[in-house]
Amino acid sequence: MKILKANDANIRIAAEIIRKGGLVAFPTETVYGLGGDGLNPIAVAKIFEAKNRPSFNPLILHIAEKEDIERIAEVENEIVGQLIDKFWPGPLTLVLKKKDIVPEIITAGHKTVAVRMPANEIARKLIRFSECFIAAPSANAFGFLSPTRAEHVAKQLGDKIDLILDGGSTNVGIESTILEITENAVFLLRPGGLATEEIESITGKLERKQNEAAPNSPGQLPYHYSPKVPLRFFDEVSEKEIAGKKIGALFFSRKHEEIKTDVAKILSPQGDLREAAANLFAMLHELENAGVEIILAEKVPMRGLGIAIMDRLKKASKRF
Ligand code: TXA
Ligand code: MG
Repeated sequence: MKILKANDANIRIAAEIIRKGGLVAFPTETVYGLGGDGLNPIAVAKIFEAKNRPSFNPLILHIAEKEDIERIAEVENEIVGQLIDKFWPGPLTLVLKKKDIVPEIITAGHKTVAVRMPANEIARKLIRFSECFIAAPSANAFGFLSPTRAEHVAKQLGDKIDLILDGGSTNVGIESTILEITENAVFLLRPGGLATEEIESITGKLERKQNEAAPNSPGQLPYHYSPKVPLRFFDEVSEKEIAGKKIGALFFSRKHEEIKTDVAKILSPQGDLREAAANLFAMLHELENAGVEIILAEKVPMRGLGIAIMDRLKKASKRF
């Protein structure tokens, strides 16, 4: 496996790999994606294989220009236009009725397709240079921590992909918010990098909905997004669970001295939920790499990106 700096020349090399049906991991503003040509079913099958992902989980198609959405999805709904004007490019994925050119393997046989226009310039250049719509799940092995740096991808997917484009740390750090838009309603399928309060300024109160298109999808599996060791919240862990273990801690804005730990990380000394989201996966990777046997996490406030952070931490806490 090769890792190349994401300059224009290397993005062109990556684009050529995508065009030929290969796989490239690349940065977006949320997390690194594992990309392949979204209209080439063989390339898409390779993505599932590399990730070890159950094939009934649909993938997001990434586009570089707003108007390209019309080639893959039905957009007659007025609210779609408003959301795109306000939030694209950015960490918002829209699930809409699909058009025929979208292969079944992308949508796992469903009639809807998930579309996103990333804000990251490297991601958009890769899409433009390849002249493809790029299918990209997060570039982690199925069920494990999402990658926010090139080395996180290398650690998990190693030899399974053709190339990693290194664009440094991703700045949002948590996956996109996913909305499903039907004729009569807008549903929140996954809280993510765009705060729900911001979306609600356009849509009104969002309803949360079980993701029917993907009942076993990563975002829905109770234990997704997890480190390889158990994660527990401070106020829910028992003495017995931590006895004799090397303990890692993930604090929100400051250390709590009463909690005995071996390695401690602070998500945001400023208490800023955006900064906390940007650091979440990187710090979990660092704790994992430090060889801790259990991670104790502090709950963060349930507002803004705190909702997405708590969603990921709760899922991680259910793995073991
Ligand atoms: O920020 C992100 O969204 C990243 C970057 C790489 O763009 N991608 C990402 O992809 O998180 P992934 O595959 O890890 O998560 C996509 C989620 C899954 O939970 C999947 O079930 C859901 O999107 N999804 C995809 N297509 C869908 C559809 N047609 N209907 C409902 N849910 C869908
Ligand atoms: Mg994922």
